[in-house]
Amino acid sequence: SDKCWQECMDVAVQIARRAGQMVREAVKQEKRVSTKSTPADLVTEADRQVEEVIISTLRERFPSHRFIGEESSAAGEKCILTDSPTWIIDPIDGTCNFVHSFPMVAVSIGFAVRKELEFGVIYHCFEETLYTARKGHGAFCNGLRLQVSKEKDVSKALILTEIGAKRDPKTLKIFSGNIEKFLSAPTHGLRIIGSSTLSLCYIATGAANAYYQYGLHCWDIAAAAVIIREAGGVVIDTSGPLDLMSRRVIAAGTQEIASFIVQQLEPISYERDDHD
Ligand code: IPD
Repeated sequence: SDKCWQECMDVAVQIARRAGQMVREAVKQEKRVSTKSTPADLVTEADRQVEEVIISTLRERFPSHRFIGEESSAAGEKCILTDSPTWIIDPIDGTCNFVHSFPMVAVSIGFAVRKELEFGVIYHCFEETLYTARKGHGAFCNGLRLQVSKEKDVSKALILTEIGAKRDPKTLKIFSGNIEKFLSAPTHGLRIIGSSTLSLCYIATGAANAYYQYGLHCWDIAAAAVIIREAGGVVIDTSGPLDLMSRRVIAAGTQEIASFIVQQLEPISYERDDHD
């Protein structure tokens, strides 16, 4: 199976690049935008088309595998992780950025076997940078080995987060409260770039020290979790080990910074990805 998963990963890299090319072409066209769970949860024709190309190509190649995709889930397919080899796909992460041609958009392909993440591939469509990692084999960006920042002191940390789809007053109050806590900790600063997967890649490269978010999905975290861990970092749930379906994540270069974030955060509740 070791050789087999490597073959899957090689295919994932080819498809991610091809999907990235589709995104670069689609961004020049007029976009048909609609909304999903909330007015801030966007989807375009391109999201659906790219996911369709990725899944149909993989299904043809690996007919016994299972697939979890952002747009298939939005269309009503169940989002449940079994022991079978499972591909977990976000065709366009940063859809809102894509709609505005704001250049932080990625294709994310994760792969799990027996519910364990085996590899992750994330392609930054406009920068054309490829992030890859396979369990036990290290993390890379365009072939160069990645290493997280070893900073332990939160007062020297750069923190990343994302807003999430809920914008009701209660959610926004908790969201701003959390930001205020981290800015006054104090820390060096906080950034919101509009793509969960690329934010997580910047933890792996050491460009930022921590990431936290409520409301992300399993396809935002699956590939990135392998990349961060293989770069020496920590990826956890706010209340224990990483749970792909919980819609919560904290990632950091060091356990010290991750623990600090856990202690400070006030939670925002979202429905699990694997709800009935
Ligand atoms: C979303 C983006 C956004 C984050 C959401 C994600 P999508 O992914 O990464 O920045 O706040 O939680 O679901 O919808 O653009 O693929």
